[in-house]
Amino acid sequence: AKVHYHDFVVQATPVKRLCKTQNAITVNGMFPGPTLEVNNGDTLVVNVVNRAKYNVTIHWHGVRQIRTGWADGPEFVTQCPIRPGGSYTYRFTIQGQEGTLWWHAHSSWLRATVYGALIIHPRAGDSYPFQQPKRETALLLGEWWNADPIAVVRQATRTGAAPNVSDAYTINGQPGDLYNCSSKDTLVVPVDSGETNLLRVVNSALNQQLFFKIANHKLTVVGADASYVKPFTTTVLMLGPGQTTDVLITANQAPARYYIAARAYASAQGAPFDNTTTTAILEYKSAPCPAKGSTIKPVMPTMPAFNDTATATAFTSSFRSPRKVQVPTKIDHNLFFTAGLGLKNCPPGASNSTCQGPNGTRFTASMNNISFVLPSSYSLLQVHQQRIQGVFTTDFPANPPVTFDYTGNVSRSLWQPVPGTKLYKLRYGETVQVVLQGTNIFTSENHPIHLHGYDFYIIAEGFGNFNPSRDTSKFNLVDPPLRNTASLPVGGWTVIRFVADNPGVWLLHCHLDVHIGWGLATAFLVENGIGELETLEAAPADLPAC
Ligand code: C2O
Repeated sequence: AKVHYHDFVVQATPVKRLCKTQNAITVNGMFPGPTLEVNNGDTLVVNVVNRAKYNVTIHWHGVRQIRTGWADGPEFVTQCPIRPGGSYTYRFTIQGQEGTLWWHAHSSWLRATVYGALIIHPRAGDSYPFQQPKRETALLLGEWWNADPIAVVRQATRTGAAPNVSDAYTINGQPGDLYNCSSKDTLVVPVDSGETNLLRVVNSALNQQLFFKIANHKLTVVGADASYVKPFTTTVLMLGPGQTTDVLITANQAPARYYIAARAYASAQGAPFDNTTTTAILEYKSAPCPAKGSTIKPVMPTMPAFNDTATATAFTSSFRSPRKVQVPTKIDHNLFFTAGLGLKNCPPGASNSTCQGPNGTRFTASMNNISFVLPSSYSLLQVHQQRIQGVFTTDFPANPPVTFDYTGNVSRSLWQPVPGTKLYKLRYGETVQVVLQGTNIFTSENHPIHLHGYDFYIIAEGFGNFNPSRDTSKFNLVDPPLRNTASLPVGGWTVIRFVADNPGVWLLHCHLDVHIGWGLATAFLVENGIGELETLEAAPADLPAC
């Protein structure tokens, strides 16, 4: 196994998009940032130097970080942020994961421009468990704001309203030729007739689930979140932020130019979203050159409607592991966590102009009615290791404090989220089931729920309220998919299982950044086991202090 050394310099860089130049925060002046390529079993050593004006951390999304929790990256969870002028070296080994992951800033909304692909090839000497592709291309779907994304979120936090939606979606940082001033930079993906290629699709958008299609071509899904899946063929993908999907595509159509397109799957009722379409071009090398001055566009796929939940669900429920897997069956912690938005009243005495949420209220979000608050002068992992008192408690409830018809016509006054820094404690090796239940308290919406430090099996999903006596019969304990981000269906539930075999503090959160800020998160504290290999490594000497 190899050790790969990289330097990441976080800095402001002029980036021109949508007819306007903006000083965006980038890594090494690149947008999107550098692609890291490794083999399963390799070690990454990434020295991050912060030359920007904002605090920053980098998270290696989906990397298990077994015993190396100090390298996970979420600010105030596993480390204090790297201050302007500071640096920190992340060191970790890829253990047993193959496929596509990605890295991104985990500090405010910096990940809008600070992200890149992390490609994990099979162990040196191994090949893919599917047809060897001729070429490979990573396609990172993103969102672009004409304003500084940090200013966008700060403004929203001040007013309590929802932040502005993005001005464009992007593929590898480019909006594509349906947007102004963007056509000459549209990404072109070349293919030769007859070849089969691997596309590694990542949803790195901040707040938007996306449908993805390529005109006239079928896609064979072979992996997701750096685990292989039982191959299945589809014409459309749906990815929540954080999720990755690897697909094979065979160039078996007439030699021409075809659009690769992504646009919103906006499951929330009435919430504003960016309804534009981002494009790249799949170009057959033998396609006749367009005549000079020709305005003929590539073939456009028919995209699903923005609210096409049937298509989204048909896709997310098609995933299986390639073979029988060992799903834990004896469960030590049977948990039921609600996930949803809510409103909090404006503070007493606040004027209506400072309370611009609907009806003079402010948006918030919670799990089991607790709106997660990050500490600001410690990291949770440091607090746990050094036994510092009074920063967090471990009484996150195993069940919601009140039971009701979560997906019915719920009164907003039913519960008002309580801010808190509450973790749920697990002992090394314990088995966990979490029923994630969406709620309709403010609006009902898909939530891409991401767990740090683990992959989990998604054993079932459905609509309405989870009902144990009816729904346990739907559990797939044979070949469920292994993921790190589950797309909790709009007005529905998802059941996940995992073994707590990685000590540390691990965030569980909605990967829509607007919802993290509102508190749709909690964390598992997993205690060390008794063996040396069951214990968190010592904190690195250069771990940033608060
Ligand atoms: Cu991809 Cu907590 O994040």
